[in-house]
Amino acid sequence: MSEWIWEYKGYDPAQERLRETLCTLGNGYFATRGAAPECAADAVHYPGTYAAGIYNRLTSDVAGHWVENEDMVNLPNWLPLWIRTPAGTWLSPDTHTLLDHEQTLDLHSGTLERTVRYQDEEGRCLTVRQLRLVSMAEPHLALLRIELMPEGWSGQVEVESALDGTVANTGVDRYRSLASRHLTDVQTGSSEEGTVWLGCRTSTSGIRVGLAARTVVDVPSAEATTVEERARVARVLRIPVTDGHTITVDKTIALHTSHDPAISDPLCAAVDRVGRARDADALLDAHRTAWQQLWRNAELDVPNSAGPVLRLHLFHVLQTLSPHTADLDVGVPARGLHGEAYRGHVFWDELFVLPYLNLHFPEVSRALLAHRHRRLERACFAAADAGHTGAMYPWQSGSDGREETQRLHLNPRSGRWLPDHSRLQHHVGLAIAYNVWQYCEATGDMEFLHDKGAEMLAQIARFWAGMATYDETLGRYRIRGVVGPDEYHDAYPDAERPGLDDNAYTNVTAAWVLARALDVLRGLPEYVRGDLFDRVGLEPSELNMWDDVSRTLHVPFHAGVISQFAGYGDLAELDWQGYRDQYGDIRRLDRILEAEGDTVNRYQASKQADVLMLGYLFSPSELQGLFRHLGYELDDDTWHRTVDYYLDRTSHGSTLSSLVHGWVLARAQRAQAWDFVQEALASDIADLQGGTTGEGIHLGAMGGTLDLIQRGLTGLETRGGALRFDPVPLPEMSEYGFSIRYQGHWGVQLRLKSDQLRITVPDSDRDPITVAFADRTVPVAPGESCTLTLTESGVTGEPRHQVTRDDFR
Ligand code: BGC
Repeated sequence: MSEWIWEYKGYDPAQERLRETLCTLGNGYFATRGAAPECAADAVHYPGTYAAGIYNRLTSDVAGHWVENEDMVNLPNWLPLWIRTPAGTWLSPDTHTLLDHEQTLDLHSGTLERTVRYQDEEGRCLTVRQLRLVSMAEPHLALLRIELMPEGWSGQVEVESALDGTVANTGVDRYRSLASRHLTDVQTGSSEEGTVWLGCRTSTSGIRVGLAARTVVDVPSAEATTVEERARVARVLRIPVTDGHTITVDKTIALHTSHDPAISDPLCAAVDRVGRARDADALLDAHRTAWQQLWRNAELDVPNSAGPVLRLHLFHVLQTLSPHTADLDVGVPARGLHGEAYRGHVFWDELFVLPYLNLHFPEVSRALLAHRHRRLERACFAAADAGHTGAMYPWQSGSDGREETQRLHLNPRSGRWLPDHSRLQHHVGLAIAYNVWQYCEATGDMEFLHDKGAEMLAQIARFWAGMATYDETLGRYRIRGVVGPDEYHDAYPDAERPGLDDNAYTNVTAAWVLARALDVLRGLPEYVRGDLFDRVGLEPSELNMWDDVSRTLHVPFHAGVISQFAGYGDLAELDWQGYRDQYGDIRRLDRILEAEGDTVNRYQASKQADVLMLGYLFSPSELQGLFRHLGYELDDDTWHRTVDYYLDRTSHGSTLSSLVHGWVLARAQRAQAWDFVQEALASDIADLQGGTTGEGIHLGAMGGTLDLIQRGLTGLETRGGALRFDPVPLPEMSEYGFSIRYQGHWGVQLRLKSDQLRITVPDSDRDPITVAFADRTVPVAPGESCTLTLTESGVTGEPRHQVTRDDFR
C-alpha cells in the first residue's frame, strides 16, 4: 500500500459492500460503485451507478401512512461483463473456486484493477484481469477492459457485455419496504456496428437516460450476436482462446441524461458519443492526464500515516465534486455519488466541504452556491408557507430545493417508525450563508458577493431576524422551536411540540450572519444597491432591526459553560459507563434508548458537536469578538470548560463529530486531539459508524479532514482581504505541505516543518498577498516567500510568531 495505491487481497463477501463504496469511480458527473462486473445486485453485491442531480419521487406505504420520497436514482447498470468457459456456467466469486482475488485502486490514475483466477467446475483455470475507469477527461464515458488468459487448456469462452435496465434502488436495507423502481419505459436495441443501447426515463421526474456500449475484442475470429431481453440488452462474444495467451475485451460506454446541455436526445447523444469514442488506450491516457491536472491543483503532502487516508479522501471528494460539477446544477450529496444512504440528499454537509474547495476549485464552489441560489425562491416559499419571512432552506433536499426530510424514520433496533423532526434544523441556512462569505473571502469574487451572494445573505438574515422574538424579561431576542446540529434532542422531555429554545450554535451563527449581511448590504456599490434592495424589498428600518437582533440574541449558560440550548443543564445525566458496559458501541444512543422505551431527550447526551461547532467555524479571536458583539464575555476558561463539558456528554453518532472534536481539540492544544483526528480519518476506511460506509462515503468527514490540515492546523483564515495564520502544533502532524489558490494566485505553497511555516507565492504579475499573523501583516509579492517561526506561547507571554522574510526567491 502506498499513498496512491489501495490494495485489497482476497474475497470476503461480508466486506464487499464496503469495498465497493471505497472503490467507487466517478468524475463529478456520474459515478459507479466498485462492484464486480460479473455479479448482479444481491445480498453481497451492489453495482450502483448514479449521475449527479438525477432524482425521482415515489410514494410508499409506511406503517399505514403514504409517504413520498425523492431518491437519487440508481441508473441502468453498465458493468455486466459475464464470462463462461466450456463448463457452461457464468463465473462468479460466489459460486466458483477462486485461486486468487486481488483488487487495486490506483488514485493517481483514477483506475480500478481487479485480478481473479477462477477455476471452473471441470478444473479449467482462467485468469481474468479487469481495468476500469470513469473518465475524468470525457465525463460521459467509462471503460471496462478485461483480459482473459486460460491456463492449461484451450477452447472457447463466452463473454456477455450487457446494459441492464432492470435495476432498482435497493442498496440500503432500512429502505427495503419503500418503493424502489424509478426507471420506466426501458427500450433496448443495437446498431449495425455492434453497439448496444438502452434508453429509459425516471418514472415521475421524467428525466430521460441514454446508455450505449461498444464492446470490441482483439480476436478477429470471435463471433458476436446481440441478445435483447426484458429491459436488458447484451452483446455476446464467442472467443477462441489458447492456453497461456491473453485476449482483451474493451467495453466502452457513454451515458447521457436529458439534463445535459447541448444535446437533443440523451439516447442519440450516447450512441453518437460511444461511436466516436477513441480506443481504450487513448481513453486511458486522456483520463490519466485529467487526473494529473486535478492533483496539481490540489497538492497535498502529509508524510505520516494520515497521508494515504487524506489522499483517499481527496480522491473521493474530487470524484463527487470535480471541475465537471461546475457545469451542473447540483448540490453536495452527503454520501457522495457512492451509494443510496440518505437517498443522495443534500444536507448542511457542504459546510465541511466548500471551505476546502474554495481554495482549490473555486469555480466548483461557485456552482454549488449557485445551486443554492437557484433554490432561494423555493426557500422563501417554504418560509412563507410556515409563516416566516426570508429564506428557510430545507434540512434535506434533492432536485428542486423543497424539504425532503422524511416525516418518519425507522429505528432498526426497535423496528418502530418514529416521527422525524430533524427538519427543524434550520441552521442549514446559516451554513449556506457561511459558505457564501467564505467563498467570497477566498476568491475575492465581488461579482458573486454583490449579486447572488448578497441576495442569499439578505434572505437568510431576514429569516433569522423574523424567527427572533423579543423577551421582555431577558431583555433579549430568542429563537425558539429549532433543532441544533445535535439532532438527538428534538424536543423538551414530555413537551407536546418538537423543537428547543435558544440553541447556542444557531443563535451565535445567526448573529454572525446578520452582521455579515449588514456588512455586505451597507458596502454595496451604489450602482447595484438599489437593484438589490428593490429585488429583495429591503427597507433601511429592516436593517436596523437586524442590527438590533444581531447584538441581543440570547445565549444561555449554565454551570459556567455555554448551554447547548435553554434547559440543557436541567436534563438528567446519563450513566455513560453503564451504557458502554452494556452495549459496547453507543454511538447511536438515541436508538438504544428508544428501543428501551426511553428517550434521549431526557438526557444531557449529544449525538455530535453542537456548541463546539462554534470553535470549528470561528477562530478564538473571531468567536470572542462575536460574543462581545452579543454583549457576552467569552474568556478562554469558559471556552475550555465548555469543551470539556460536551466532550464528556457526546456519543459521536455522526462522522462529523470526531472531525469537529479533532479540530476543536487541536486548536485548544489538547492531548486527545490526535485520537479524534484518527477517528475522523478512519470513519470510512474502517466503517466506524457500523456498516454505513457500504451505503456511501461520508463526504463531510472526507472534506473536513482535508480542511483540518488546510485551515484547522494552520489557523488559516481568509478574512479582511488578508491570508491569516495562527498555526497550532499537533505533535503527530509535525510536517505537512499543500498549495492553495487564493484570490487569483495559483499554487501558493504552504509548508510546515517543525516550528516553521513557510508561505511561497509563485511568480506572476498579480499584486502581493497580505499575510497576517497575530497583530502583524506582511505583503508577500509573487516570487517571494515568508516564514513564520513559531515559538512556545503562554509560558513566557512572548508573541507566538516571529517573522523572518527569508530569501527564497
Ligand atoms: C448528521 C448530520 C448530517 C447527516 C448527513 C447525520 O448523521 O447528524 O449532521 O448532515 O448525517 O451527513
